[in-house]
Amino acid sequence: MARIAVIRGDGIGGEVMPEAEETLVAAAGAASFPVELEQLDWGSDRYLREGRAMPEDGCRLLRERFDAVFQGAIGDPRVPGSAVQEEVLLGIRFGLDLYANIRPSRLYHEDLTPLKGMRAGEIDHVVFRENTEGLFVNVGGFFKRGTPDEVAFQEEIHTRKGVERVLRAAFLYAGRHGRRKVTMADKASGLRYAGGIWRRIFDEVRGEFPAIEGEAKHIDAVAMELIQHPGRFDVLVTNNMFGDILSDITSGLVGGLGLAPSANINMEGVSLFEPVHGTAPDIAGRGIANPMAAILTGALLLDHLGCPQGGAAVRRAVEEALAAGERTRDLGGRLSTRQCGEAVRRRLR
Ligand code: NAI
Ligand code: MG
Repeated sequence: MARIAVIRGDGIGGEVMPEAEETLVAAAGAASFPVELEQLDWGSDRYLREGRAMPEDGCRLLRERFDAVFQGAIGDPRVPGSAVQEEVLLGIRFGLDLYANIRPSRLYHEDLTPLKGMRAGEIDHVVFRENTEGLFVNVGGFFKRGTPDEVAFQEEIHTRKGVERVLRAAFLYAGRHGRRKVTMADKASGLRYAGGIWRRIFDEVRGEFPAIEGEAKHIDAVAMELIQHPGRFDVLVTNNMFGDILSDITSGLVGGLGLAPSANINMEGVSLFEPVHGTAPDIAGRGIANPMAAILTGALLLDHLGCPQGGAAVRRAVEEALAAGERTRDLGGRLSTRQCGEAVRRRLR
């Protein structure tokens, strides 16, 4: 029995997650794969009520009691600043050491891409973004702050352990999912130290996976080539900052936020699955949010738990619903969140 912690969170999290949960349970059931979902009320309501968005020992609870976490989104305009996001999103990311952020982006219908002449399935990328170090460690400072001579430093940190584990995770994923190639994107020509450590370790790790093609390329070239020749790429792996941008490029090629799932992985521990989008306060409460990103996130979760038939069935159902025009309004349709979830589930088999 796979035990899944569910954090619906705030805003449209509470609208898209019920659809995603119901779809996940239906697909798992059809594949005879037992799952058990347990709701955790972590997020802004709890913060407003109790002064904390999640229990202090929340990460220990997740590690001890669950196989994975399925999360909606966190962030509510009633709580100014980013206290809740920091407590929950960063708290869990660092608490569970979720070192690889994985963002798959597959083209499900030709009218969802801004590129000409691409058909369903012809764009299919998986970005692995290092999720715990790089530029986002926020080591730095100001010097002569507020004066005309002010200087800001923002240091970037890459550890052997951190680089090696995300590179290995990308190759392992490629092997397990029948993917042929891993491209590592860096800026080795200009950034001697950061580029140096990533290239050296990439050369070591790729040697362990002779069946998978490995290539190292500069991030700027990858950004351009992704748009001109998306078919040349398969799995991409890169550092925290480059991955933030690159994964938005790949999502943008296949339809954007309404369809973008993600996983935050610790290969040795408990991983967290969430749609890329946030809580969308501008449309929250109206029942019109697109649940497909959350539904496709559930498919990733099923793959990860060892139910790839369930994951594949969900993706196929989403593809068929999109092709039939059964869409929410962000993708040009007229369905409500609930109707869209039902349209996907009707196509599960
Ligand atoms: P957002 O992703 O919530 O919304 C951006 C735009 O996309 C909005 O116009 C929204 O209506 C639209 N959108 C997003 N998801 C959609 C969906 N499923 N269906 C239809 N339209 C959708 O990003 P924004 O506005 O920057 O942030 C809003 C709140 O969400 C903030 O509090 C932010 O901190 C939080 N956030 C949380 C994330 C997380 O929990 N991982 C990620 C990003 C933002
Ligand atoms: Mg981003």
